[in-house]
Amino acid sequence: MEKPRVLLTRKWPESVEKAAAELFDVTYNPDDRPMTQSEMRSALESYDAVLATVTDDVKEGTFTNLKPMARILANYGVGFSHIDIEGARAAGITVTNTPDVLNDCTADLAMTLLMMAARRAGEGEREVRAGKWTGWRPTHMVGTSVTGKTLGIIGFGRIGQAMARRAHFGFGMKVLVQSRSPVDPAVLGETGAVQVATVEDLLPQCDFISLHCPGGAVNKHLIDARRLDLMKPTAILVNTARGEVVDEAALVDALKNGVIAGAGLDVFEAEPSIHPGLLECENAVLLPHMGSSTRETRVGMGMRALKNIQQFFDGAEPDDKVN
Ligand code: DGY
Repeated sequence: MEKPRVLLTRKWPESVEKAAAELFDVTYNPDDRPMTQSEMRSALESYDAVLATVTDDVKEGTFTNLKPMARILANYGVGFSHIDIEGARAAGITVTNTPDVLNDCTADLAMTLLMMAARRAGEGEREVRAGKWTGWRPTHMVGTSVTGKTLGIIGFGRIGQAMARRAHFGFGMKVLVQSRSPVDPAVLGETGAVQVATVEDLLPQCDFISLHCPGGAVNKHLIDARRLDLMKPTAILVNTARGEVVDEAALVDALKNGVIAGAGLDVFEAEPSIHPGLLECENAVLLPHMGSSTRETRVGMGMRALKNIQQFFDGAEPDDKVN
């Protein structure tokens, strides 16, 4: 029997590309270039499966008048706000993602950003590398303590919960949670977390806010000028979710005018472009979307995507079907 023809839209970890080749007739992307929408449309019309990721344009328009050969679009990544899920469903295409395998890794990076922003680690490193450090003194690079402070988590799925564990068990932080649906009291109890009703209730009470909600239209600019204004002037905002969740222009104003004290960002509204104002903010820590970037996790994500298409071609419903 012929192997299904599958396209990997980006370069994947070598061990996963090898595993893919044993199971499928694979086309690789040796240039590792993101796909445009028209390239994505041709791919969906020419392969049995397309294994895409966050940098590919699979937004509105991709599925309009498409004559797909592919019946499955397996996303390498947990977030899928870059995919027109309804359009895919209407075109008869199953979409899957790769949850679970990146929970700890992403929460680790959120905690890294929180610590870096609190302790001004980016500023300090820049000072040392620029040869501008003049030595220890009591008033040099004074940041803010983390231990015992209050962390507000917006979106309490698996990554948000992993963040709560780090904050509670590692740093004795009090955890407040805002989530659309009621969180199981047993899950809250694990970290002594308390759920509050609204984002407006959460923001004024917290020293740190960490975003772990999905992106997409529903959460676009969830954190805007009005809500930044509700945060404490000493507070720090951390975003490892999706860039569109924060109004970047409003955040630049808030960082420049002392509305909040700092930010740690791993995701941006127009990646890989960064709002020029953010680059001017010493109180912002900026990382290039690397929440899931450990060897173990990137292999885990690839294997999970392969498992999803294998299940699909075996006639089963993939574990991680999202539409
Ligand atoms: C994810 O898994 O959603 C990462 O952000 C990469 O897309």
